[in-house]
Amino acid sequence: MPKIIVAIDGYSSCGKSTTAKQVAKQLNYAYIDTGAMYRAVTLFFIQNHISASNPKEVQKALHDIHISFRRDKIKGTNDTYLNGLNVENEIRKMYVSEQVSTVSAVAEVRHALVAQQQRMGKTRGIVMDGRDIGTVVFPQAELKIFMTADPIIRAQRRQAELLEKGELIGLQEIAENLKMRDHIDTTRTESPLRQADDAIYIDNSLMTLDEQVEMVVRLADEQIGLVLRGRETE
Ligand code: DC
Repeated sequence: MPKIIVAIDGYSSCGKSTTAKQVAKQLNYAYIDTGAMYRAVTLFFIQNHISASNPKEVQKALHDIHISFRRDKIKGTNDTYLNGLNVENEIRKMYVSEQVSTVSAVAEVRHALVAQQQRMGKTRGIVMDGRDIGTVVFPQAELKIFMTADPIIRAQRRQAELLEKGELIGLQEIAENLKMRDHIDTTRTESPLRQADDAIYIDNSLMTLDEQVEMVVRLADEQIGLVLRGRETE
């Protein structure tokens, strides 16, 4: 069976990662959460007092940053590692969310992470979610999804997610953080968040997780079928 690239882009906390993870599982593909990579870089910048506006410091820091994903066989999760340390929980905390859009708007940061993401998808068979996957990282992806949801629903989902991790944050604070990140993500000069011309738009405000997953898997199967038929007629 041919393997394709599934690119899922969209706003913060619209359920991209949860959907992408399940889709990857059903297709038996690798899943890459690119937001986690930007979060790991942000955590490094915070811990090492790196100024995002100082190109020299940024270049040196990027040289010292090594990000990888490792499967936790017991929990069944795919955890983010920064320089050999599991930072999966730390990178989801609010103090990282507050800085991540600023750090991810830095051109040098994007170039380094995009290059790593492209290497990860070289053999295809990958579901990758982020903001620029269908536009910059894999413009040739066979399936591109642009996902969104109502801002209030996104804030409620994010609040529940943080609460599960033991962080109780007010809805207003979360909604403001999401609004600020949407603004920075869509207006930055370097690869801003936008829907690729050939992406399929999904508003999942009123959809269950199962419905979203089923829809994306069906679209992926259609694309796999197209690639297969294309190869047969070659
Ligand atoms: O998906 P997330 O909310 O964990 O992403 C965190 C931040 O990283 C988000 O505010 C924007 C940035 N990001 C990006 O600029 N490009 C990506 N491909 C993924 C995330």
